[in-house]
Amino acid sequence: MSAALNGRVICVTGAARGIGLAIVRKLHEEGATVIATDVGIPADAADYSAAMLALDVTSEESWRAAEREIRERFGTLSGLVNNAGISQTAALEETSLEAWRRVYAVNVDGVMLGMRTMLPLLREGSAVLKGGATIVNMSSVGGLRGSALNIAYTSSKGAVTLMTRSAAIEFATLGYGVRVNSVHPGGIGTDMIDTIYDRYVELGRVASREEAAKASQARYPLGRLGTPSEIAEAVAFLSSGASSFMTGSQMVVDGGYTAS
Ligand SMILES: NC(=O)c1ccc[n+]([C@@H]2O[C@H](COP(=O)([O-])OP(=O)(O)OC[C@H]3O[C@@H](n4cnc5c(N)ncnc54)[C@H](O)[C@@H]3O)[C@@H](O)[C@H]2O)c1
Repeated sequence: MSAALNGRVICVTGAARGIGLAIVRKLHEEGATVIATDVGIPADAADYSAAMLALDVTSEESWRAAEREIRERFGTLSGLVNNAGISQTAALEETSLEAWRRVYAVNVDGVMLGMRTMLPLLREGSAVLKGGATIVNMSSVGGLRGSALNIAYTSSKGAVTLMTRSAAIEFATLGYGVRVNSVHPGGIGTDMIDTIYDRYVELGRVASREEAAKASQARYPLGRLGTPSEIAEAVAFLSSGASSFMTGSQMVVDGGYTAS
């Protein structure tokens, strides 16, 4: 077993399934002590985590409680992975203010609250780590370019891209020893993508989920969607000392989708 993350304590949000669960598994394999969190206890992460916490990323109090528990049980934090996110597939005219705010609460407020709440713990732990402490924010190819029927999601992920860059510069300028980078997956085979395909069917854009999947895959130069573990590889690298000269960067993992 390689040990690129030995001695690191890393908290992951949205860890109950999909990309978040794959991240927990990969960080554990690389030797990290992993704190897996989700709105409910992420039971499937039991074999790969040292603690499983209920953490609703939209709630300031929930973040504070998680911070207290991590401080008491582990005394330190080396990394935070702000992975929790939700999608919303609708035309602008069909996007209610309530739905818009829900997407922003999870995807934008969640990342801001996470960085802000965990920053003191990350700063305290940073000095003894090669490359300092790390934050990885899960954006999307949707945080780099626009797309139809996706305005709440893409704009929220665009905010994640720029929150990452601004925090990276701020923390470096202030000498905090905390690097901040974002990851930008293309389509990854998880529940989220199935929900999006089902919405395309509902909206009459395609006849079936299978047709939606085929059309989607055709847009990727590598001819397929990615897997959660391919995203976890990028997160593990950005959470390790191997990425010590990277901060404020966007790591795109998208099968060539944004290359053209
Ligand atoms: N699947 C893709 O194609 C894709 C592409 C680009 C980016 N992403 C991003 O990757 C991340 C993970 O996506 P996924 O595909 O694994 O999605 P998913 O829907 O399979 O899992 C998302 C997880 O986030 C959790 N979550 C939702 N709201 C939460 C909240 N308020 N507090 C805490 N946890 C909450 C859910 O319970 C779930 O476990 C998201 O940020 C998503 O936007 C996914």
